[in-house]
Amino acid sequence: MLNDHIRFDDDKDTLYLLDQRYLPCREEWFPVTDLRTTIEALQEMVIRGAPAIGVTAAFGCYLCAREVQREHGENEGWEDKLRAKLAELKEARPTAVNLRWGVEEMEKFWAGRPGIGLPSLCTAWLDRAKNMQVEDEEINRRMGANGAALLEDGDKVMTHCNAGALATAGWGTAIGVVYSAVEQGKKISVVANETRPFLQGARLSAYELGKCGVDVTVACDNACALLMKKGLVDKVVVGADRIAANGDVANKIGTYGVALLAKEFGIPFYVAAPASTLDARTPTGDDIPIEERTPREVTHPTNESCIVPDNCKVYNFAFDVTPNELVTAIITDRGVLKPPYTESIARALKRTT
Ligand code: MRU
Repeated sequence: MLNDHIRFDDDKDTLYLLDQRYLPCREEWFPVTDLRTTIEALQEMVIRGAPAIGVTAAFGCYLCAREVQREHGENEGWEDKLRAKLAELKEARPTAVNLRWGVEEMEKFWAGRPGIGLPSLCTAWLDRAKNMQVEDEEINRRMGANGAALLEDGDKVMTHCNAGALATAGWGTAIGVVYSAVEQGKKISVVANETRPFLQGARLSAYELGKCGVDVTVACDNACALLMKKGLVDKVVVGADRIAANGDVANKIGTYGVALLAKEFGIPFYVAAPASTLDARTPTGDDIPIEERTPREVTHPTNESCIVPDNCKVYNFAFDVTPNELVTAIITDRGVLKPPYTESIARALKRTT
């Protein structure tokens, strides 16, 4: 189950995504065939989590190319039509930099093959997207091994949102660190913050950790201070949607509060993310665009009855930014980065592995 939620069906020329809106209640597959359905899958959270968004974007580029092929063949101007679709895809969600990264990887691949025809580009892009899916899991396993060294036998690890297998092509980032430590024989238990409003922790982290036999306890987001005070948390490990050049970390709304509490209680606060989440082009957290989502996620938590009075105003910022000084270390596939992050991130980005 750790890498089987993004499936490309060659016969149907369709990407199938395990629909995360319905987990853990039911397992339904969402077919993605073109730009519109790729954007729908991303915006409606059929698939979510920064690395999974990046891999989906790569398949999305291929599906855009196929769409251009269906609509225009190789008639003059197909390149511009394709570029316009890629530009639209890149904007589907603003915070996770892996979306831009996934599309730009495909654009670089195209730029490296000047004069390539549309049919050959389609074939090559599909292969590249499949490779990126495989590579993502390899990257996560390397990150997991780097991070597992920071966890001790018996540790109680708090995580926020879902940065597990479901948020990637496989294994996971923050929860991947837990899986790697467990694989090494360490006994690790996890506190999964429920993560209002989309409940990625309660629904998704608890689902996949439970399926993998890892001891997991779900807690309300507002229990964090009490749990830390009671000694029920030894370490915090979270993922990231974008890490600015100075080490400020955008992650799911509520992460900043967890980091502040971790500091108060002297608990290490680790961020696990692949190099594709490090964004040299964004100087600080203040420059990271924060996605605002529909109030309905807050007002109708299970998409059924409304829990607030009619016409009540709602804030639904999907992410917040944790300042770098609250981050003990950033676990990447290129090693564990320590402050000062401006230097360690720049060095990591220069390395290839
Ligand atoms: O809105 P989401 O579910 O896409 O947000 C995901 C998160 O914030 C995760 O914690 C982050 O992407 C890391 S995923 C490996």
